[in-house]
Amino acid sequence: TRKQVEAANQKTDHTHEQIEREKEQAAQYVAARIPNHIVLGLGSGTTAAYFVKAIHDRIEKEHLDIECVATSVGTQQLAEKLGMRMLDVNTIDAVELTVDGADIVDDHLDGIKGGGAALLFEKLVANMSKRNVWIVDPRKPRHTLEGQMLPVEVVPFGGMGVFRYLRDHGYQPAFRFQENGDILATDSGNYLIDITIPKDADLQALSENLKKQTGVVEHGLFLNICDEMVVGGDQVKVVKRE
Ligand code: 5RP
Repeated sequence: TRKQVEAANQKTDHTHEQIEREKEQAAQYVAARIPNHIVLGLGSGTTAAYFVKAIHDRIEKEHLDIECVATSVGTQQLAEKLGMRMLDVNTIDAVELTVDGADIVDDHLDGIKGGGAALLFEKLVANMSKRNVWIVDPRKPRHTLEGQMLPVEVVPFGGMGVFRYLRDHGYQPAFRFQENGDILATDSGNYLIDITIPKDADLQALSENLKKQTGVVEHGLFLNICDEMVVGGDQVKVVKRE
């Protein structure tokens, strides 16, 4: 069930404080290596927020000439609050590098994103980025994405039809709700349906099939997108796409 998947994902012998430190270690490692004079994509979520703060500190201290593009309203607000130079995504052709978090990353650096509901803007920016680096804590890397929760973003009108399709095809769908009980709306006003990736799933076929369903806007499978994963820890681990 969804609760079991979530519980399994939380399973770690690391304390909350350790996990936060690991996220920050990954963020700082990457922030220290960002080149000057680039357009930089800023990811979303708690790990990406550590990166935004770390790169902001470097920009200020070293007077770097770096302009940024955000992947969510939340990240845009954080970056604006810090006074970073932000660009409208529609005014640029490409992003040099995007640094983002991820929910789960497999052995091939394919991953699931959207735990923080920002998958649509994240994928848009990732697709226009020359390089994508993911910063994660050690709970995130897994051998496979099988059995993991995958968010599917649907338009509110007709979202129920997509839900029925997913239910009838064994994907165990569940609309995502906020803590106050209201249905969660993404930055684009869409809904999220969390499904479970079946055992032995062909990820490419699953990705294409989901995109084919009318009413599906995007999903959180990020295949062949991540170029490098940086895992936080006292010894930071860097895994590059082969
Ligand atoms: C948001 C995302 C996030 O990058 C992902 O959920 C990881 O978040 P966190 O760093 O808070 O664990 O994909 O849509």
